[in-house]
Formats: sequence, C-alpha cells, structure tokens
Amino acid sequence: MTSLLDDLRVALGDSAVLTDPGETAGYSSDWRRLYSGRPLAVIRPRDTAGVAAAVKLCAEAGVSIIPQGGNTSMVGGAVPSDDGSEIVLSLERMRALREIDTVDLTMTVEAGVTLAAAQAMAVEAGMLLPLSISSEGSAQIGGVLATNAGGNNTLRFGNARDLVLGLEVVLADGQIWQGLRHLHKDNTGYALRQIFVGSEGTLGIITAAVLRLQPGVTARATAFCALPSVEQALALLARLRARDAGALHAFEYMSGGSVDLVLAEIEGTACPVDPAPHFILVDCATSGPQAAAASLADMLEGVLGEALEAGELTDAALAQNDAQRLAFWKIREEHAEAQKRAGASIKNDISVPLAALPDLMQAATAACQALVPGIRIAPFGHLGDGNIHFNLVQPEGADGAGFLAQSDALMDAVADVVQRLSGSFSAEHGVGRLKTGMMKSWRGGVELGLMQRIKAALDPASLLNPRVIFPAEQAED
Ligand code: MLT
Ligand code: ZN
Repeated sequence: MTSLLDDLRVALGDSAVLTDPGETAGYSSDWRRLYSGRPLAVIRPRDTAGVAAAVKLCAEAGVSIIPQGGNTSMVGGAVPSDDGSEIVLSLERMRALREIDTVDLTMTVEAGVTLAAAQAMAVEAGMLLPLSISSEGSAQIGGVLATNAGGNNTLRFGNARDLVLGLEVVLADGQIWQGLRHLHKDNTGYALRQIFVGSEGTLGIITAAVLRLQPGVTARATAFCALPSVEQALALLARLRARDAGALHAFEYMSGGSVDLVLAEIEGTACPVDPAPHFILVDCATSGPQAAAASLADMLEGVLGEALEAGELTDAALAQNDAQRLAFWKIREEHAEAQKRAGASIKNDISVPLAALPDLMQAATAACQALVPGIRIAPFGHLGDGNIHFNLVQPEGADGAGFLAQSDALMDAVADVVQRLSGSFSAEHGVGRLKTGMMKSWRGGVELGLMQRIKAALDPASLLNPRVIFPAEQAED
C-alpha cells in the first residue's frame, strides 16, 4: 500500500495524508466509543478535485474509503475497520461558502462546513437555515446530508432531504457529478440528489450542496412546560397547531427521568418549572415585522393559559429574554451528553405515528422494566414529528458491561412494540454499523433487494463505507 500512500501524497500534498496513530486517533472511533478502528491513513483533501483524485486512486488500488464529516454518528456510521486496510476521507478542510442567494433563498456550501457555521452564514445574510440538531457545532453539512439528519425543526421544515436543491458528488470511480442546481422546480428524470441523501456515504461522497433557506427570523417565543401525560402533550400540540401552525418551529419532548439526568450531570442547568413526569419545549418563531414579536409571545402565552386551565399542563415558563431561551434549550441539547456521562446506555432511535406515542411510551417502558429492574428509562426527542429517542441507562451503581450484555434483549423488546405500532427502528440516526442486523427483518425482501441493486450499480466493488446499512453477508454478495 506504500505506493497508494505515495500517490495520495503527490495528489493531495504531504500534509493532507495522516498516518501517525497520534494524528489519526480522533478519526478512528465514534462519538459513543462503540467502535474503534485503525485506518491505513486519514486523508484531508482541500477541494472537490482532490476528493475525486483520491477516490480514483483508491478505486484503482481496490482500497475502501470511509467518508467522514464531524464524526458525530450515533450508530457507528463513519469508523474504519481495525485491520489497517481502509482510508478515512475527511471533508473537514472543505469549508467554503460558495454562494448565498437572497433572491432564490439558497446557499451553496461545501461539505466540511459545520451545521452551526452554515446557520450563522445564513443569519448573517438575513436568512434562516431551518435545520437544527444537538451536535450542530461539530456535525458537518456532508454528513448531515449523507445521513438525512432531522432534528428539532422537522415538524415545520422537514428533514435534511427536504432542504436540498442540488448536490455535487464524487462517485465511486472518481467521476464528479455536478448537480449544484438552484431550481425550486426541476422534474427532469430521476431526482438523483435524493439517492445520495441518506445513503450514509455508501453511494458517493457529497462535496457541496445547494440548500433551501427561509426568510430570517425576527422574533421567537419559547416555553418550557410540565405535563402529566404524553396524551396531554399531543393535546398541547393540537392547540398550538390550531392557533398558528406556521409559527411552531419545535415541539421537543423530555421525560422526567431524562431531565433528572441532565440536571445531575450538566453544570449550570436548572429546571425552570415544577417537577413533572413529562416536559415539552415549545419554540415559536416569525419572520414578520417587529410588531409580530409581541403578538407571537401573546399567542404562546394565550395557548399555554388555556392548556393550564384545561389541566393539560401543570406548569409552564415563558422565556423572558434570549439568555433564558438558551437556558431552556441547553437542558434539551445536553441530553445526549448527560446520558453518556451517566453510564452505559442503549439508544432506540424510533418513530411511530403521533397518535401511537402514548401506547409506545407505556408499552416500551413496561417491557424494559420487566427485563431489567431498576433500569433508567430516559426517553426524549422530537415528539412533534413522532421521533422519540427511547434511551435506556444502566441502573444506578450497576455494572455497565453487564447492562450492555442485555442490549439485544432490550432493543428487541422495544422493537416489538414499535413494529406493532407500524413505526421505524431507525428514525433519525441512520443504520450505520450498529443496526445492520435489523435490516433483514425490517426492510427485507423486495426493499432490501432494491437497495442492494442501487449499491451495486453505483459502487460495484463496494469500496464506499462498506460495512454500514447492509447486513454483513449481503454486503459480500
Ligand atoms: C438528539 O436529538 O439530541 C439526539 O438525536 C441524540 C440522542 O439520541 O442521544
Ligand atoms: Zn434527535
């Protein structure tokens, strides 16, 4: 492989090819530390031509590539194998804002721009990039699109794929597909960009994208609510939608147990309302004139007042300023970190039709408690779009490894409930390496066959992110 590394150094420059274990360590395991690998090298091209040249060289040498963005996957989606045979291709140096168009409301950004930086670029131009996830400070646009990230604003603006108008992609043989179109309407054959969005880096490497923006936000109103039940959360959602569905940008759920973990593990957090079994964070926004700010806050206050009177809420706090708004959001955004600190945890990233949420919570909780007495059930997530992170944390003081040994039984128990309710076992985080074993039973037959045919057509040698999505024996077919 020396000659491949030499060729890569010539094509990309010496500093773009890392082989020292001290330098490659940060690219070799995932955020959750579920997987750890040893790459042949980490390469960091500066531009699309560099990505294309590197992919071509790897294809000629028959060496697999693991495309990597911010490395924030929850399912081991971007980790190299541990035999030193694969190349990690990091997009982190491709950080340009290529264009921002205030007439068409679009931005063209390169894959290595973090989501938070892209949001800030949009705000600077007076617009809104309506995609927000907890890891946005590290997650990069390429990975966000490759995994079709969802997050907090899905109920209003859809998932990442709904924001993509055009893509630039390096294909498995090193060709560049230049599809950076800005068109809001374009029915010209297959919508190829959508094949790459959500493909988890298995079909091509996204190097840049044209994203749809919204008019800039002029005012926000944010509330933290305490509720007696999940049924009442659905009632509150219905109330808000009936009053002003367009203003509702986020409707996030936190269980009492999951908030307790945040308060215990994350410094500087305090619950702004009375203790309760369920909490909802409501975020409303408008792009109207300044006067709209007062009416937005009035609207939210009015709805909360009615909900309190109807017994749907037991307490509510309306953020009085930006600092308070950020403090409310901090409690929600720190959930993943708090659970990581609280010990061994198991993530069930599931979705069900909204009306089935109370049944899901009740049945999945009972099933898990029956298997592991003392288990800490810590669900939270994007209730407004039906996606709950039904996360499970080891009993206090228990042995983490012993708890994780029960992962399969616990995940199967939750999956049985989700299947009964016609839901998904992978709503937001993707399949990665973690959930390939579930693909046959959930997407087997015609559907998995179609996916394999697309993979074989676009990456016949299976060199792009080879161990994700497909069950092992199928990937080798
Ligand atoms: C979130 O919404 O914060 C996440 O997707 C993280 C998680 O499941 O832990
Ligand atoms: Zn999430």
